[in-house]
Amino acid sequence: MGSRIVGTGRALPRTRLVNQDLESRLDTSDEWIRSRTGIEQRYVLTNGESLVDIAAEASRTALSRAGLKPSDLEAIVVGTVSSDFGFPSFACQLQDRLGITDIPAFDLAAACSGFIYALSVADASMRSGDWKRVLVVGADALSTMVDWNDRRTAVLFGDGAGACVLVTEPGPRGVLGSLLRSAGQHWNLLSVRNSAGTRCTYDSEVRRTADEGIQMRGPELFRIAVRSMEEVTRRVVEKAGVRLEDVALILPHQANARIINAVADRLGLSADKVFLNVGRYGNTSAASVPIALDEALEANRIHDNDLVLLNACGGGLTWGANLVRW
Ligand code: UT7
Repeated sequence: MGSRIVGTGRALPRTRLVNQDLESRLDTSDEWIRSRTGIEQRYVLTNGESLVDIAAEASRTALSRAGLKPSDLEAIVVGTVSSDFGFPSFACQLQDRLGITDIPAFDLAAACSGFIYALSVADASMRSGDWKRVLVVGADALSTMVDWNDRRTAVLFGDGAGACVLVTEPGPRGVLGSLLRSAGQHWNLLSVRNSAGTRCTYDSEVRRTADEGIQMRGPELFRIAVRSMEEVTRRVVEKAGVRLEDVALILPHQANARIINAVADRLGLSADKVFLNVGRYGNTSAASVPIALDEALEANRIHDNDLVLLNACGGGLTWGANLVRW
């Protein structure tokens, strides 16, 4: 008995920042950002907005497309590093917003790989018969974690949430397999001190100092991200006993268009098999893969029985992939 995705949704903060908006704040340019990352705009949380509300909106859309009510859920698993509280978890706050009680709700902290990890854990528990209807969410607001004076990181991130509803189903469709990896020895390539939750928004008076902001060793991370996303893609396909050529669409974590293109080149995949939307959202961390999935479905890029591969690499370092038969 496998798990199948039967509804998806996405939601974003109200405020859209185009690259030109950042030119007036930082020593940067639209040309640099576009050519080095592919990013053209991003949505950022502003003072008073709640990422939990945004995740609840994405979740309600996913539930309604699945034809289910919040009270039908048996578990909530959230990939996030953006809870405003040390505890309770983001998932428990989301459970409260959805008005449901008495089911397990918990977070998985794997930074940009959070959704891949959450989907893998939800699928494993569903296979073992623990739950039949599960909400899996990726939600992050890394724009609130940068030092807004640091052009190397401030231009990269956007905020948002993506959600999926999974149900158990007999038959060949659904999550075929997942692979998760971590390399703790590289923890300091991408890190942030956990001090202020999402309070330090783009427009807030409260600012993160250079020390409190995201620390990133971009070029080293770039090289590892390319290698690890290639490796995990090949291995998850091999483990499932299918061929890479049979994969209809890859939905990679959207950190940088150059990373995505390099992975596609190494895998020998044509551009039409790789979904790219980093230009519209920037790097939304754990939200990027479920937002991409929701957009790909809306754009009719995924059809019944297609093999779809999700992959990501992020802070930890963590990386992983899920292979899904649609
Ligand atoms: O989501 C988790 C995974 N994240 C990633 O995998 C991110 C991986 N890394 C990257 O995507 C890229 O390394 C970055 C986009 C972060 C940086 O691109 P890069 O081509 O590796 O640039 P760089 O860090 O080597 O910097 C090149 C130059 C530097 O100037 P000098 O020293 O050559 O004079 C930087 O100071 O670009 C400068 N620079 C900028 N210039 C204008 C860095 N950021 C900016 C900026 N605007 N925003």
